[in-house]
This record gives sequence, structure tokens and C-alpha cells, in this order.
Amino acid sequence: MLREPQATVPPLARDTATAATAVAHPNIALIKYWGKRDERLILPWTDSLSMTLDVFPTTTRVRLDPEAAHDEVTLNGEPATGEAHRRVGAFLELVRERSGLSQRAVVDTRNTVPTGAGLASSASGFAALAVAAAAAYGLGLDATGLSRLARRGSGSASRSVFGGFAVWHAGPADAAATQADLGSYAEPVPTADLDPALVVAVVNAGPKAVSSREAMRRTVDTSPLYRPWADSSRDDLADMRAALGRGDLEAVGEIAERNALGMHATMLAARPAVRYLSPATVTVLDRVVRLRRDGVPAYATMDAGPNVKVLCRRADAARVADAVREAVPDGTVLVAGPGPGARLLNEDG
Ligand code: DP6
Repeated sequence: MLREPQATVPPLARDTATAATAVAHPNIALIKYWGKRDERLILPWTDSLSMTLDVFPTTTRVRLDPEAAHDEVTLNGEPATGEAHRRVGAFLELVRERSGLSQRAVVDTRNTVPTGAGLASSASGFAALAVAAAAAYGLGLDATGLSRLARRGSGSASRSVFGGFAVWHAGPADAAATQADLGSYAEPVPTADLDPALVVAVVNAGPKAVSSREAMRRTVDTSPLYRPWADSSRDDLADMRAALGRGDLEAVGEIAERNALGMHATMLAARPAVRYLSPATVTVLDRVVRLRRDGVPAYATMDAGPNVKVLCRRADAARVADAVREAVPDGTVLVAGPGPGARLLNEDG
């Protein structure tokens, strides 16, 4: 006898749940996002491409509280203050506008990555918040919708909605706001078998002196190198897609490294200059060059902080990690692989 198909709950779209918990992982861009053309909608000038990691997850619970007069946000057990509180509040306001619900929320976030140290805590943070808040407020979004929503919290979060490699489309540059917003989301990138690892060298886990938001703005507004980098980044993306498609890790690494160094060059040329790279960063970069000379394909990328992520084959990861540890004995070095996309957890865990 034929049976009725069981009603299934799509993992990323539920009816209003009152409370929902989501987990998301950070991603590291191999083609960088640097520079917004619209600050309010968080629309970038260029497409970017990243690998979501299997380390440093953020877990976020959002619970609607009909009694509360304000959103209550806790970050690792401490009440969030200042900019962090403001950004989460503004994000929840956006979710409320879309849901038609006015209830405030209690948000509890657990980050396992140092916050604000250029290790993409805002990517995992806003991806987890987007997935949990969309479920709690019953937005019923698919993965593309969640990626657009996460983007409004932090641009790079749009990519953490997906696992593995993801590309974030800048969206049409000359379109009206609604069309531009609709066109700017991330999606998975097809890749051949790469078996990649990212060796993460945390040389300084402290918060950065200049936020990436401010540094990006300053670069776009004042750096004479910004335009040339943005133009070359478009070519880098095309080359990167081709390299991923044929599983050419050496080409992937070379393109990622040149794209990241170019991004840092744009910041160094900003007025006043933004310099995230420290002496320890350069020590790791030198070590990576030596590894290559010794025949180990290893390539560096850096974000808005001094920490270095070294792309290599998984089979070489232990050797690369040892070399980096030796170069920066005071740092923390760990090996990450491609990780999963953001997802809801059952409320019972
Ligand atoms: C250097 O996504 O943190 O890590 O959109 O202003 O929140 P906002 O910026 P954010 O910037 C990340 C910049 C980067 C490069 C990247 O991840 O692509």
C-alpha cells in the first residue's frame, strides 16, 4: 500500500518557533571582500569566495520574549555592550520588520573564536544569528534568503550560511536598491577534489585597533590602489573558479595569496594607512615561502588582523603546522578543514 509522504520540516525554514538555536562556522576568504558600495544594505564592490571552516563554531539561541522592552544580548555569558549590542539590535529590528512581529528577543551567543581578531567571528556570529532569528520569528527563508539576511549583519556572514567553498555575488551595481539587495547573496561553488587544509596561525588573539568596517570605508574613500585591486580581484575570481574546478590546489593558493596581499596593499595606501600585519605575520609569511622552496605547496592569506591562514594539502598540514609553530613559538597553531553550512539545532540540543 502506498503511504502518504511524511511531512518533513525543512532544516532552514520553520514556522514561528518562539525560540531557535543555530550553529555556524567562520569562513576564510580566498578572494577577499573589501569595500562596500552601499553601507546600509552591505553591498560589496566585488564578488568574493571563501572556504567555511570546521573549527570555531558559534552557537546562538534566539528566544522571543513578549514581556521584554529591549533586546537582551549575551556574548559568551556576558551582556553585550557598545557596537556589538547595537549591531545585533539593528539586525533583529530588520528581522522584526520582515516578520511583522514586534516582540523583543533574548539572544545568547557562544563564540569559540577570539572576537574581533580578524578570525571571522562576525561571519559565524551573524550567520548563526540569521538562521536562529529567521526561525524564531518565522520568516520561512530558504538558504539564499538566509544568506541575504546574514549579509545585512556582516557581509562575510552571507558565505558562512554554506559549507565548503562559497561565492558571494556582489549583485547588480547600477540597479535600484531592491534589485541590488536581491542579487547579492552567496551560493556554493563546485570544486574538484582538493582535500585542502587551512593551518591557522593565531599570532595575536587581541581585538584589532581599527574595525574592518572602518578600515574598508577608509580604503574605498582614500586609497589610490583600491580601484586597481577591485578590478584585478574580478580576474582573480574567474581564475579561482577555474582552479577550483580542476582541483588545482597550487593555483588556488597562488591566486588566494596574491589577492590577499593586494588587499593589504590597498589598506597600506589608505590615508591614514591601515596596517594589520605585524612582525609575527611577516615571520609566518617568510616561513611559507621557505616551505614552497622546499617543495611543499603552502600559501598564505590574512584578513583584518595579524593572524595568518596557510592553505595547503591536508596530507601536508601537519608538516606545515610544525613549521609555522617553530616560526612563531608564542602563537597558537591549529589545522582546519572545510566545514559545514549554518544549521538549526533541535531545541533539545
Ligand atoms: C578581510 O564581513 O567583517 O575578512 O560587512 O563590515 O561586517 P562587514 O565586514 P566583514 O569583513 C570581512 C573582511 C575580510 C575579508 C573577507 O572575509 O572576505
